[in-house]
Amino acid sequence: MEMYLALNHAAEPAAAPVVDPALANDVIAGLGAQQKFLPSKWFYDDAGSRLFQQIMALPEYYLTRAELGILRNKPDDLAEWIAPDALPVDLIELGSGDGAKTISLCDALMRRGTPCTYHPIDVSAHALIELQQRFLAELPDLPLHPILGDYFEHWPSTPPSHRQVVMLLGSNLGNLNQDQSIQLLKRVRSRLLVGDVLLLGLDLKKDPGMILAAYNDAQGVTAAFNMNLLRRLNRELDMDFDTEHFSHYASYSPLDGAARSFLVSKRRQVVRSRALDREFHFARGETIYTEQSQKYSFEAIEQLAAASGFDVASTVTDDLGWYTIAVLRARPKQPARAAFLAAALPVGWPAFTPW
Ligand SMILES: C[S@@+](CC[C@H](N)C(=O)[O-])C[C@H]1O[C@@H](n2cnc3c(N)ncnc32)[C@H](O)[C@@H]1O
Repeated sequence: MEMYLALNHAAEPAAAPVVDPALANDVIAGLGAQQKFLPSKWFYDDAGSRLFQQIMALPEYYLTRAELGILRNKPDDLAEWIAPDALPVDLIELGSGDGAKTISLCDALMRRGTPCTYHPIDVSAHALIELQQRFLAELPDLPLHPILGDYFEHWPSTPPSHRQVVMLLGSNLGNLNQDQSIQLLKRVRSRLLVGDVLLLGLDLKKDPGMILAAYNDAQGVTAAFNMNLLRRLNRELDMDFDTEHFSHYASYSPLDGAARSFLVSKRRQVVRSRALDREFHFARGETIYTEQSQKYSFEAIEQLAAASGFDVASTVTDDLGWYTIAVLRARPKQPARAAFLAAALPVGWPAFTPW
């Protein structure tokens, strides 16, 4: 009887994976394009989030240490802008990850006696669970309202009498192209009242060799992170990528300040998705563009803010001058001026911007 059941079970067709329509659409559009691409938000399944945590600890990945240095060593510089008065604060973090950096700022605000509620938003359940554990252990008195979802689609409801302070750290904005950056910042601005604050963690332009190394580490963790995207597609869209037949390639162009990551097909091959009932053809050497990481000048930050309805109140920079947290304040809407400034956006921003 037992054997019958086991055999019967084995003979059943495997359950089809539940397909996320947004992922399906992005894969059909991206792998069907002339220059193949995949949006970087799909990096962050559980394995991708774990790999990203390893990346943040790599010697080459200076970004996390620099940003953490600002948050740990200069939280009062930021807190003065966030909480100059007694107004309660709602901290809304877009793409919070595990919250390891933000906790220092929350701690500083609580020590100053600022009434504060934290609303982290992230697509990664793994990251939000870690965040919740961290905050429960270290700041149990901080009201915490995590939101699992896309920050393009979700926004917490907060009392109008509170100051909203939105955070976009980890140079997350740099993963978007120019149009998307302005679109996201305008969307944020549309949720804010004049005087509300946006904190933007941004990587500054610097030695190109140092930037490139951050996306091409010696241990190959960034390569594994990039390759995990294909594993995710295999699992979630029933695809048959053979990761042995792809490699990781990173580049940095000082001309436009963009680091870019690609997956390179090592040979001519066809990859199928049973869930999508499609196949995708790859020539030898053909690339999938998977991530952009924009580096900024202070002028570019000013222009980006102006084009999206903000003023730059301050830039708090690490001691080496590699990274900045820009403090932007929502300014009164001035459509004519905003349109004029949008037309004067930074020269040399990446021209190829598929997502
Ligand atoms: C580069 S990590 C940065 C994490 C954290 N902010 C930090 O600085 O350590 C990017 C995070 O944003 C999340 N993310 C990316 N795109 C997102 C989106 N559209 N909506 C919500 N979360 C997103 C990822 O899951 C990931 O946790």
